[in-house]
Amino acid sequence: MAPLVVFGTRPEAIKLAPVLRELTRRGVPYRVCVTAQHRELLDPLLKLFEIPVHYDLGVMEPDQDLFHVTTETLSRLKGVLRRERPELLLVQGDTTTCFAAALAAFYERVPVAHVEAGLRTGDPYCPYPEEMNRRLTDHLSRWLFAPTAHAARNLRAEGVDEGRIVITGNTAVDAVLWALQDERFRSTPPPLEIPEDRRLVLATAHRRESFSQGIPRICEALRELVRRHPDVEIVYPVHPNPNVRKVVEERLRSLERVRLLEPLEYLPFLKLMAQAALILTDSGGIQEEAPTLGVPVLVLREKTERPEGLEAGIAKLVGTDPERIVKEASPLLESPQERARMAQAKNPYGDGQAARRIVEVLLSSLRT
Ligand code: UD1
Ligand code: UDP
Repeated sequence: MAPLVVFGTRPEAIKLAPVLRELTRRGVPYRVCVTAQHRELLDPLLKLFEIPVHYDLGVMEPDQDLFHVTTETLSRLKGVLRRERPELLLVQGDTTTCFAAALAAFYERVPVAHVEAGLRTGDPYCPYPEEMNRRLTDHLSRWLFAPTAHAARNLRAEGVDEGRIVITGNTAVDAVLWALQDERFRSTPPPLEIPEDRRLVLATAHRRESFSQGIPRICEALRELVRRHPDVEIVYPVHPNPNVRKVVEERLRSLERVRLLEPLEYLPFLKLMAQAALILTDSGGIQEEAPTLGVPVLVLREKTERPEGLEAGIAKLVGTDPERIVKEASPLLESPQERARMAQAKNPYGDGQAARRIVEVLLSSLRT
């Protein structure tokens, strides 16, 4: 078996790295094609995880739209698929790279394995376009690796055959556990010195459906949080998407105790997460990592496909209304007990063995 593994963005690289490592550990040859839907965010991860790249489609252009990423991925992958004729194509998550690669494989009659299958909000526009990307990818796929029992139930409810679904845990947890025990993580200095009498709130936001209203409202909430809590320092590594950057810089650049940073590499970012008293984010991956680091998360979205964190008590869905965000964040910043209650939850997204389960299933189905 020589799978072709296709990915293009930061979260896909992080969540596929454990699978690639497991393939390597078992001596299974594989080929990697990056679309490079992300460029600067992707390249350091290829280096960190020592991922061999056989094809680089170089798709990213500044301020790209969904048509660009979809059509370029689809047309550039055609040649790769025809040349490689892989036994299967492996994709992860809900990006446009993931969906377009699955569609290209379907056109070439190559079976698709989808890591992180079955996540749903039920609203096609939330998150946009990810909810539709993952629905379409799931229905194009032969193997659906659902991270949780909840995700598997979502798939059954859509009529997916039981025989195609396997519950594996999320590979994001494999990646974070690997990082925590890696010597390079231990020797990575914290990216910022935070004075002892200050508490760090880590913020990130980048969702497309939040560009026009959500992100300005999130900025207003951050402004109000530092005003109300003189011992709070907000650190915000800003996504390079110009639609995010412009709004965030305009609104937060001049504020004291709000530090806008360039995106951090994975290991320093995990260090920063571990230092935080609280995380405010609309990121999917960060919701999955935070429980392992014992940091509560307020999810800056109206709907979530990750209810497990809410049920476990480590996360709360708060939307983008500034008043609501401040109302939910304040008790966590004021009361160590409130914070500790949330922080103690176990990680509901996985146990660090997801990649092993995924590779075992692929090996045994392809051998038979
Ligand atoms: C993409 C995914 C989203 C995922 C996110 C993770 C889609 C439609 N969106 O959103 O699901 O949550 O990645 O971060 O698949 N840019 C750079 N350098 C980079 C990356 C991005 O300059 O390394 C800028 C470029 O101007 C680019 C723009 O950001 O055109 C948007 O990138 P894109 O991948 O289309 O959207 P994201 O918001 O990053
Ligand atoms: N991340 C990172 N540096 C940063 C911000 C995030 O390495 O400055 C990592 C984070 O640990 C997580 C992933 O990027 O693993 C999440 O990516 P993002 O929020 O862009 O995408 P999503 O998970 O929402 O698709």
